[in-house]
Amino acid sequence: MTGGPHAPATRRQFLGLTAAAGFALVTGCSARQPTAAGPSTSTPGGLRLTAAPMRVDLAGSEIPTWGYGTLPGPEIRLRAGDRLRVELDNELPDDTTIHWHGLAPPNRMDGVPGLTQDPVAPGERFTYEFETPTAGSFMYHAHVGMQLDRGLYGPLVVEPRSEELSYDREYTLMLDDWRDGMDAHGGHGADAGHGSAAEDDGGDAVSFGGRSYPLLLVNGRPPEDPPVLETRPGDRLRLRVMNIAADTGFRFAIAGHRLTVTHTDGMPVEPIPVDALRLGMGERYDVLVESAQRGGAWQVGVQAEGRGGWGRAVLRYGGSPASSPPAVAQRPGELDGRLVAYADLLAREPLTLPAGSPDRVYDLELSGTQIGGQSYPDADPLPVAEGEWVRITMRNTSAKWHPMHLHGHHFQVLTPTGRGPVKDTATVAARGGVLSFDFLATNPGDWLFHCHNHHHMEDGMVRVVRYR
Ligand code: C2O
Ligand code: CU
Repeated sequence: MTGGPHAPATRRQFLGLTAAAGFALVTGCSARQPTAAGPSTSTPGGLRLTAAPMRVDLAGSEIPTWGYGTLPGPEIRLRAGDRLRVELDNELPDDTTIHWHGLAPPNRMDGVPGLTQDPVAPGERFTYEFETPTAGSFMYHAHVGMQLDRGLYGPLVVEPRSEELSYDREYTLMLDDWRDGMDAHGGHGADAGHGSAAEDDGGDAVSFGGRSYPLLLVNGRPPEDPPVLETRPGDRLRLRVMNIAADTGFRFAIAGHRLTVTHTDGMPVEPIPVDALRLGMGERYDVLVESAQRGGAWQVGVQAEGRGGWGRAVLRYGGSPASSPPAVAQRPGELDGRLVAYADLLAREPLTLPAGSPDRVYDLELSGTQIGGQSYPDADPLPVAEGEWVRITMRNTSAKWHPMHLHGHHFQVLTPTGRGPVKDTATVAARGGVLSFDFLATNPGDWLFHCHNHHHMEDGMVRVVRYR
C-alpha cells in the first residue's frame, strides 16, 4: 500500500511489495505522476476509492473532471486467490458504481446499477468484496451513464501465484480519448471530421466511433507531455496495454521494436510476434518487448483508427540522457506492419467444453443501436441455464466496428484453429463482419452484454444474459 510518485518499479520490487502487503495498491508504477489530488488511501484489509470532482493538468490546461483522485485511478494489484475489498465513497453529485471489467465476480458485485445493485447515491458508501482467482490485466470503471467518459477508471492487475514469463520491468498503459471539460482545443485528438468521409462512401476504413475527442491520452497524459518508459539495453519489458476509451479504437506500436503478444484480455496465448496491436474499447493486450537498441528515445505511438488522432509515450534507454524525445507527431512505421489478429492467437488455456455442440445458440445482428433487433432497455433478456455451453454469433451490418463485452465470463473466440483466444471483449468488423464465441454458463446472475463504445451503449446496444 503505497502512495505518492516513485520511480517505475522493477518486477522484483512489485513482488516484494505484493508479498509484504498481501494486497497492494501501487501508484506511479505506470511511469505517471498523480496529476490532481493525492492517491486514494488504503483501508485495513483493502482500499478506499473516492469518486469525486477533481482537476487534471493536461499539458498546462487545468481541466475539471470526475475521477478517483488520479488519472487514471490508482493501480490495484493483487495476486490470484486474493480477496479484493474496495470501499467506494461517492462524493460526486450523481449516483455511481464500479464495474470490474474482465473479472468474474459474484453477480451482486458486478457494479451495474438497477441490475446487480442499487446505485451508490451521493454521500454514500458501497463495499465491493470478492475473490479474484484468475490472474490477468483488467480494468475498473464507473458504470453509470457516460461517467466512464470522464476520469472514473483505473487498471487492475491480478498477478499469478507463480509467474511463467520472465521480464525485468513492467508498465501499464491505459489509452483513452478525452473531451471532458474541454471546450475548444487544437490538440492531436480524434476528430470526427477528419478521415470520416471514407466511412460514409462505403470505404473499408476501420472506424470505431464518430464523436470528436480533442485529446488522446496515455496514462492521463497528452502527447505534449508523454509518459516515459525507462529501459536498459538487454532488458525485457512487459507492457499491459488497455483501451479504456469511450469512442476510439487504437493502433499501437513502438518505433524500432517488435511486440510479442502473450495475453489478450488477461488470458494467456501462445507467444506471437507482431508489429502493432489493434485494440477496440475494453480490450487489453500484454506484450513483451526486447530492449534491443543500444540507446536513445523511441516513440510509443497510439493512433486512432479511422480518423485523425494521436497519442504517445516514449521508451527511453537509461544512460542516454542526451537523447531528445521523438517529435510529438513522429509516427512509427511499425503501425503499418503486421497486426495482431484473433485468427493468429492460440489460447494457452482453452475453455473446457464438452464433446458435441452448444446447448444454446444466439445469432444476433449488430446494427449500431441494436443487438438482435432490440434496443435496451426495451429488450428481452437472453436466457441461459447454469451449466450450459452457450454460443453467440454476431453479424455486424453497420459501418462501425463494435467491441462487444460480456460481463462475468470469459469466452472463447471461434477461429479456424479451434483454439481461438479466450477474452471478455471482442471486436466485430464493420460491414458484414461475423464473429462467434462460446462460453460456459457457470456464474449465475444477470450479466450485461454490450458494445463498449459508450455512445453505442447509451443508444441501446445492450442485452442482458439472464440465468434462469
Ligand atoms: Cu467495461 Cu459493461 O463494461
Ligand atoms: Cu458499437
